[in-house]
Amino acid sequence: MTFSPPAPRTAPDGSTPGEPSVVELYQRHIGSGRAVMGRVMGGMAETRSEGPWIHTDDGRRFLNFGGYGVFLLGHRHPAVVEAVHRQLDAHPLASRVFLEPVAAHAARALAAHTPPGLDHIHFVNSGAEATEAALKLARAHGRNAVITTRKGFHGKTLGALSATANATYQSPFQPLLPDVTQVDFGDAADLKRALADRRDRACVILEPVQGEGGVRIPEPGYLREVAALCRESGALLVVDEIQTGMGRLGTWWGVDAEDVSPDILLIGKGLSGGVVPIAAMAATADVYRPFSQDPYLHTSTFGASPIACAAALATVRTMERENIVARAAALGTRLLAGVREVCAPYGGGLVREVRGRGLLIGIEFSAEQAVGELLLELIARDVLVNHSLNSTHVLRLTPPAVADDAALGLFLATLADALAATAARMAV
Ligand SMILES: Cc1ncc(COP(=O)(O)O)c(C=O)c1O
Repeated sequence: MTFSPPAPRTAPDGSTPGEPSVVELYQRHIGSGRAVMGRVMGGMAETRSEGPWIHTDDGRRFLNFGGYGVFLLGHRHPAVVEAVHRQLDAHPLASRVFLEPVAAHAARALAAHTPPGLDHIHFVNSGAEATEAALKLARAHGRNAVITTRKGFHGKTLGALSATANATYQSPFQPLLPDVTQVDFGDAADLKRALADRRDRACVILEPVQGEGGVRIPEPGYLREVAALCRESGALLVVDEIQTGMGRLGTWWGVDAEDVSPDILLIGKGLSGGVVPIAAMAATADVYRPFSQDPYLHTSTFGASPIACAAALATVRTMERENIVARAAALGTRLLAGVREVCAPYGGGLVREVRGRGLLIGIEFSAEQAVGELLLELIARDVLVNHSLNSTHVLRLTPPAVADDAALGLFLATLADALAATAARMAV
């Protein structure tokens, strides 16, 4: 008689009875800090998603108004998923010997929307890699003196980290790139002083609105002044739109608000369509020339992979077809008004300020502790948001443009409830 043992029962997180849990596997193999954070957040593992929703292994469904700016199209937008499926079935990764059509078409589609003149595209796999590419390209032009802004965020690889003005992340890795100067974001006079003795050795890098810096929006005219100062001094201007670009601010790019066209534009996050990681550096023909002339000067095995470019191409087409930029602007206006109304009773006390542009919204608290408390209160009510890496007093919202009225209403009602609980708890 043959005996077949029963198939092992599989837990929702993929583990089988007697096997270590996801938290334990993180603890053993990925990092104890991440495991502890996972426990603090409730110990669930996320396993599925669609639109603005993320599902966890315990059967819960979370409204994702966070995602660090990636999910402007929500999770698994059907058009992006379909394009990626097709590419998967045809040719996901390239030999890199022949030319590859999807990268070519994705570059053309993206260049149709970049600011005037920025029609050369270098695809990479992450935002930090886009920053690295820009810093190297600047160096190829002799622009070795980096000027960055305080609280700016440009990634955490070694070169990018040199431009990310946060001592906590920089200190363990010093010395970083030499000749990096920090100036105050929003202060054109400070930039002018920094440029004075660097002039055409300088590469200025900044975000149009600081995301990780806590949704800091400069005064109107600042970007135009920055661009003029760079032009006058011969400095190269890199605008990092990894978080703000691709419609997040209710315009294709943050620089659109001031009609500024930088030498280099960095793109990431939303370009993925929330499906396959991809980022890019766009540059003018003149600035791009070193990379253009020598295709081996700066390369990466997986850069411009067909599978990622299929996601990027489908993302741009979906944004055009579904009018995503205008939808982000309209939804952002309503969300900002709603959040302001919900936060109004706490103004001058727990809440210092609510600010935002498009679908990048920050709630600044008077006490740092409120950010963590509110984040957990929201998780307890099945809503996800983010903290800000370079501004610990600011809770950040980066919801999808495809969220509907019901999702918006649910978010605002939940925020009101969670804020009340946070205020009560912090009064103790
Ligand atoms: C403005 C900006 N630049 C660069 C990065 C780094 O991107 P990545 O995390 O994909 O390396 C980020 C990520 O948050 C960002 O917001």
